[in-house]
Amino acid sequence: QTIYLKDYKVPPFLVDHVDLRFELFEEGARVYNSMEIRRNPEAEPGQPLELDGEGLELEGLTLNGLPLADSDYEVTSGGLRIEKVSDSFTLGVVTWILPQENTRLEGLYKSSGMFCTQCEAEGFRWITYFPDRPDVMARFRTQVEADKARYPVLLSNGNDVESGDLEGGRHFVVWEDPFPKPCYLFALVAGDLVEKRDTFTTQSGRDIDLRMYVEPRNAEKCDHAIDSLKRSMRWDEQVYGREYDLDIFMIVAVDDFNMGAMENKGLNIFNSSCVLASPDTATDAAFQRIEAIVAHEYFHNWSGNRVTCRDWFQLSLKEGFTVFRDSQFSADMGSPTVKRIEDATLLRTAQFAEDSGPMAHPVRPDSYIEISNFYTLTVYEKGAEVVRMLHTLLGAENFRAGSDLYFNRHDGQAVTTDDFVKAMEDASGKDLTQFRRWYGQAGTPIVEVSDEYDADAKTYTLNVRQYIPPTPGQTEKLPQHIPFSLGLIGEHGEDLPLKLESGETDAPTERVLELTEAEHSFVFHDVSEQPVPSLLRGFSAPVKVRYPWTRDQLLFLMGHDSDGFNRWDAGQRLAVDVIQSLINQPQELTVDPRLVTAFRQLLSDSNLDQALVAKMLQLPSEAYLIELSEAADVQGIHKARTRVLNQLALQLRDELLACYRRNREEGPYEPTPEAIARRSVRNTALSWLMHINDEEARLLALQQFGQAGNMTDQSGALRALVNSDFEEDRTKALGDFYDQFSQDPQVVEQWFSIQAGSPRTGTLPAVETLLEHDAFDWKNPNKIRSVIGAFANQNLANFHATDGSGYRFLARHILALDSTNPQIAARLVAPLTRWRNYGDVYREGMKAALEQIHAKPDLSKDVYEVVHKSLVD
Ligand code: ARG
Ligand code: ZN
Repeated sequence: QTIYLKDYKVPPFLVDHVDLRFELFEEGARVYNSMEIRRNPEAEPGQPLELDGEGLELEGLTLNGLPLADSDYEVTSGGLRIEKVSDSFTLGVVTWILPQENTRLEGLYKSSGMFCTQCEAEGFRWITYFPDRPDVMARFRTQVEADKARYPVLLSNGNDVESGDLEGGRHFVVWEDPFPKPCYLFALVAGDLVEKRDTFTTQSGRDIDLRMYVEPRNAEKCDHAIDSLKRSMRWDEQVYGREYDLDIFMIVAVDDFNMGAMENKGLNIFNSSCVLASPDTATDAAFQRIEAIVAHEYFHNWSGNRVTCRDWFQLSLKEGFTVFRDSQFSADMGSPTVKRIEDATLLRTAQFAEDSGPMAHPVRPDSYIEISNFYTLTVYEKGAEVVRMLHTLLGAENFRAGSDLYFNRHDGQAVTTDDFVKAMEDASGKDLTQFRRWYGQAGTPIVEVSDEYDADAKTYTLNVRQYIPPTPGQTEKLPQHIPFSLGLIGEHGEDLPLKLESGETDAPTERVLELTEAEHSFVFHDVSEQPVPSLLRGFSAPVKVRYPWTRDQLLFLMGHDSDGFNRWDAGQRLAVDVIQSLINQPQELTVDPRLVTAFRQLLSDSNLDQALVAKMLQLPSEAYLIELSEAADVQGIHKARTRVLNQLALQLRDELLACYRRNREEGPYEPTPEAIARRSVRNTALSWLMHINDEEARLLALQQFGQAGNMTDQSGALRALVNSDFEEDRTKALGDFYDQFSQDPQVVEQWFSIQAGSPRTGTLPAVETLLEHDAFDWKNPNKIRSVIGAFANQNLANFHATDGSGYRFLARHILALDSTNPQIAARLVAPLTRWRNYGDVYREGMKAALEQIHAKPDLSKDVYEVVHKSLVD
């Protein structure tokens, strides 16, 4: 049941046109599907016709309008097979499906009273028989019929060309999409929704209708998404020269959704939590996430829809490139340094963990059992880093020439990551042969750096060695092409010129060295003093850099590096070093006073870029500290980190209070980078003070909680209370918060995750109580993520309880979810998969939980793949 990239064959049949008619009822839905099919001239001749289909009740089958005899076709486990067909014909299929019983949330399903679809990657086969693969691109015409009162809004891809009333209070709308597309981009929505309208005029002067559809209670939560959409449309024109192609662009919000959002042609469907926002109910982080996801889905219209993937091994072709595009967009809309820090943090914490675990795979995987398991940080975020490295190596201008060539050359086609690199190569003239290894080799490269300063010769030599640890199925790796950006900093904090030859004039102070060999030595000339190296500036490649910086050197970089990212990184490295040195050490051992001084500086100097300060004040997460360990001691890490936090807060109490007061919120809520930075710094100060149960902070937190004019401050105060020992205040605040927002699912989800993710309120019995709460719903992925996901991924001290209770809890719920929503169940396995990287007290319990899941009969392939790969060596 493993599918291999090397087995790819072109589709034996192509579909030119599909005519769909959906009859939607309360008991089920009937789908009439008429396909114009012809033999692919490039395929091996004489093959039978095979269509994919799952969970379908076949009610009718016609070939060129005539019913097929039972002996002419065969219904197999995964589809339909017709042995003898001519070279070109029309096939009619009628199927009956049960959207209201669809808990997998793939194909057509019902979510809070509305019908909606999710077809990527292989959901269309749950709707009708079809060649469900992205290299079969057809023109779709879709008629949707339903009860008019219950479902006044009927949507599909493209333009609405016809509508009218039917007997029995029913009505219909016909949609026509002029662009051929793979069936994974098909979408249908039917519901009682309010419509928010806007328009956008393209650079060539075409007026586009923008329509957003939400349930009536969410009518006030649309503005931010629509504004974000308009900014995205303008940005894609300006930066990539890409204009929107249809006359209508629609966004729909649905409550039950497995992922964040989906880029269906002209009809993007979003998880409510990734699109609905108002200042009272959504945090700054949510505002930024929504802007980024709206942009991401919009950008897919070119990188994904106009040019799509040949097969699912090429997923990063659209996802890596589109994540890169949305990260450039977010950087342009806010602070580029902060955006870079956020991306690097996610990569180093979670993607590096994936890369060194049992599910490690290349950006272009070479095999899979269930493709849904490969919507990963590696395909998305590392894939985006690979595109970013191309941008760095080629320069902005050549990169743009490459993307123009790519879009022009492959418009309307289903292509490969290699076609993408080839376009970049052809447009720039740069040889990318070795660079392609980034797509095929799994694992995080390690770059080890050592240096020598020769005071007499005034030369400074950097010795750089790269290697990639083995990953499942890949033991030997070849060196990769790594853009390695660096600077050298002199004793007064200035960037030194980087002369690769003696006497070089106008040498730059920052260079991107291209690492291609396993080892290099770079000699810099006319260096008059021993410099401090600033390595991998801006996180120029997704690699781990090892260099023996002293704490004094890190402090120096924190204060002087002209690269904002590396200033932050120096602070992180210093904090990691301090925390690690305190793991399981006697209580008397105090935190290095130099770390206290550095944080005092950050809190007190209001001239510093507050957006950067907000990031620098965050201590490295427990998850990151675990990722850095060989045999992680979770409880030791948790205690050491908490100790550092408490000591910093005790020693910096006055500075924290002053900082809190200085950044007090004034005026109406605005999600500008400056205001966001201010709120972040202030809420961090508050949370530190509450960690030490400071009485003055308690009053400030209660006041902020009661008077906040926005969700960032209100939930910031709630979080601070939850993480303090003021038990009465915490209980009251949690109760008040719930009463205030019990009607708002997005806020209730935050309320769940604040509790389940907190080491204080998220003990196992407390989490089990949350699962019994009225607002909890096993059919809603957001609720599952906000309780079980938050517990297993954020509340590490409780999840990794040494009695194994957290693991058994997770295993039990994965087993239950495996039968209802395998995609969600498989995602929840992740926290158990890296059991080999934990200390002995954890390992056995994690492994036992995996074995318990593995033993279930009829395990879904989603869960089976992850669990099985975690258990084999
Ligand atoms: N293409 C969507 C996006 O990244 C995600 C679809 C996820 N589908 C899945 N089966 N995991 O925007
Ligand atoms: Zn995407």
